[in-house]
Amino acid sequence: MKEVAVQTHNLIKTFSGVDVIKNYNMTVLRGSIYGLLGANGAGKTTAFKILSGLLVPIGGKAEVLGKDIVSQRDEVLKNIGTIIETPIFYEHLPAKENLEIHLSYMGIENVDIASVLEAVDLQSTNRHPVSKYSLGMRQRLGIARALSHKPQLLILDEPTNGLDPMGIRKMRELFLKLVKEENMTILISSHILSEIQYIADMIGVMVNGTIIEEVPLETIKKQYPDGLEDYFFNIMDGGQSNA
Ligand SMILES: Nc1ncnc2c1ncn2[C@@H]1O[C@H](COP(=O)(O)OP(=O)(O)O)[C@@H](O)[C@H]1O
Ligand SMILES: [Mg+2]
Repeated sequence: MKEVAVQTHNLIKTFSGVDVIKNYNMTVLRGSIYGLLGANGAGKTTAFKILSGLLVPIGGKAEVLGKDIVSQRDEVLKNIGTIIETPIFYEHLPAKENLEIHLSYMGIENVDIASVLEAVDLQSTNRHPVSKYSLGMRQRLGIARALSHKPQLLILDEPTNGLDPMGIRKMRELFLKLVKEENMTILISSHILSEIQYIADMIGVMVNGTIIEEVPLETIKKQYPDGLEDYFFNIMDGGQSNA
C-alpha cells in the first residue's frame, strides 16, 4: 500500500451562507500526480487554499502529509510548496533574490538557486527585475519558488496559466521528473483535461464544491479509449447545469 499525502474528510467551506466546498473527500497518494479537474467556479482554488492553510474549513478535516492542516499548520507548511492564484513577488528584485528571500524565510540554506531557475528556464534573466517579466515568466518563477525548498508535496492551482504550448510541455516534463527523481507528490488543478491527462495518475472531478469522481486515469482510458474529453465535458456540464 502506498502512503497517503493528502486525505480529507467531508470538508465544508461557506462564503456568505453558500457552501462553496461540501462533502469534499479526497485521497492523494504519495509519489503520485493527482489532477483535480473542474469547471471555473467549481471550488478548486478554495479547496487548495484550505489544503495550504490559507483558509480554515468550517467543517470536516484535512490531513496533509499526515498532519492536521488546521492544528499543525506550521509543520505542514515547511513541507509543501504552493502556487495558488497569481504569485506575488518583490517586483523590483530579480528572480534569484526573490528565491533567496523565500528560502531564508523558510529557514533553508545551501540551495543551488541557479539549477532551480534552470529547471523552469529562467536561467538567463540575470538582473532583470520581476516587474519586467511576462505572465509566463512569472508563472515559471512561481513554480521555481514552490519547489525551491524541496517540499514533499506541491499544490499547484492552474499552474500553466499564461504559459505558451512549449512552456506547458516543459512544465509537464518537469512535474514528471520531480515525481520520479525527487519522489515528490503533486496535486494540480485545471479546468482543461488535456493539461493534466498526460501526467496525472489519479483524476478527481469536482462539481459544485464536491469531488464526484476519483478514479485512476488508466481506468478511464480503458473505459473511454476515444472519448476521454467528451466524457469529462459531459460530467462537468451535467453538474453545472444541475446547479
Ligand atoms: N473569498 C470569497 N468570497 C466569496 N465567494 C468566493 C470567495 N472565493 C471564492 N468564492 C466563490 O466560490 C466559488 C468557487 O470559487 P473557486 O474556488 O475560485 O473556484 P475555481 O477555482 O474552481 O474556479 C465561486 O462561486 C466563487 O465565486
Ligand atoms: Mg481557481
